[in-house]
Amino acid sequence: MRRATSCGSALALCTITILLSLSYSSSETVHRSQFPSSFLFGTATSYYQVEGAYLAGHKSLSNWDIFTHIPGGRYGEVNSAGIDYYNNLIDALLLAGIKPFVTLNHYDIPQELEDRYGSWLSSEIQQDFGYFADVCFEAFGDRVQYWTTFNEPNVFVYDGYLSGTYPPARCSQPFGNCSAGDSALEPYIATHNVVLSHATAAEIYRNKYQEKQRGMIGIVISAHWYEPYSETPVDRLARERAMAFQFAWFVDPLVYGDYPPEMRQVLGSRLPIFSAEARRKLETKLDFIGINHYTTQYVKDCMFSPCPNSLSYGEACVYLTGEKDGVYIGNQTALDDFFVVPRGMEAMVTYVKERYNNTPMFITENGYAQATGPESVVLHDTSRIAYLESYLAALSKVMRTGADVRGYFTWSLLDNFEWLHGYLVRFGLYYVDFTTLQRTPKMSVKWYKNFLSGEETQKPSM
Ligand SMILES: *[C@@H]1O[C@H](CO)[C@@H](O)[C@H](O)[C@H]1NC(C)=O
Ligand SMILES: *[C@@H]1O[C@H](CO)[C@@H](O)[C@H](O)[C@H]1NC(C)=O
Repeated sequence: MRRATSCGSALALCTITILLSLSYSSSETVHRSQFPSSFLFGTATSYYQVEGAYLAGHKSLSNWDIFTHIPGGRYGEVNSAGIDYYNNLIDALLLAGIKPFVTLNHYDIPQELEDRYGSWLSSEIQQDFGYFADVCFEAFGDRVQYWTTFNEPNVFVYDGYLSGTYPPARCSQPFGNCSAGDSALEPYIATHNVVLSHATAAEIYRNKYQEKQRGMIGIVISAHWYEPYSETPVDRLARERAMAFQFAWFVDPLVYGDYPPEMRQVLGSRLPIFSAEARRKLETKLDFIGINHYTTQYVKDCMFSPCPNSLSYGEACVYLTGEKDGVYIGNQTALDDFFVVPRGMEAMVTYVKERYNNTPMFITENGYAQATGPESVVLHDTSRIAYLESYLAALSKVMRTGADVRGYFTWSLLDNFEWLHGYLVRFGLYYVDFTTLQRTPKMSVKWYKNFLSGEETQKPSM
């Protein structure tokens, strides 16, 4: 996603550079045998991005249905058609020998709650989220052992309340041009309610279900890695700030019971305080941390040094860029700010291992953004194979240092609706013809299958 906001009175810098891609090839091959036999491999999807049928089976409207311009909708009781749908899906997965890893919230929320009390801006959401989670644990927990409360809340909070580019599209100057909102306050309130909603759901799971169902519950955070633009102390500090504002913002409270000190220093009293009751709830801890990792960028200080003001990361006061001295940090992809930097996987996992005492981790998303194009071209996805191979090699390398990573899921099974990019960016292992919905395996499907069966992988010809 794009982080386009401005910070303080930074100096505008305008340079035109001819950018050369630093091309390197990974000589490392990777083998299934480098991972423990209990290690889980899979692919990831999300309902909103692949299922369609937005009003089928009595589903009510979500904020993304409204945001993508569809009228109507109403609120109801627990929807038995929805329960049946996921019961059938879970049973079919188990029958095929696939363990379901279930996410309760992946960006969208019933529009009804947006209209009624402003969704994440109200503490009322905590109880409603707990109720929803309880319904899911009760209905599916006999067969589901892995629960994620939230997928990338750092993205939907930042984009929904700071830059205003995602629903509910709230923000204020200078961070964005929205009709309502307060970028200096609302992101922190929304996060407070997300963190406490997680804690509410986790507490219900611990108290009512975990002993019987023997599952794990965690949270999934979008996790870009940032390398300091230079070795100056301020750029290294900028990296710590960027990581705190991006990642530790959500995870520190769930492990240590409070927001990161790097954020308190900048935000002071604008960062909410956890009450005694909230702190007690936060003691439920995390069984695992889910890491969605795709890319690495350079990070440059904007707090103590002049810097271009167009791409800073909210109030972290940093500038992110994929380019230095006319050279990209890694191979380019179909997304402007996603580069292929496998060493970032090692660094990201090491950061989580060190900051959170080696809490069990899953790489819940990792994948390659491919531009849409003629089917025959898209099917020949050798760049995706190179990407997966190099990132898995990096993952197996960091696991040899003792990092407790338990699984890896490629984003995504299918080409899908990629939020603001619509259908123009294809992350799938399977090609989807969006007119006929016909699905065709890309070359990477064969590669992943061979890899998983432990067969020698053939480097495809380019
Ligand atoms: C980067 O691009 C080059 C040139 O296309 C390719 O040979 C190499 O395998 C790519 N590296 C990765 C890690 O994708
Ligand atoms: C807001 O709109 C103004 C005027 O069109 C524009 O100059 C500015 O860049 C916009 N700000 C953001 C953050 O999009």
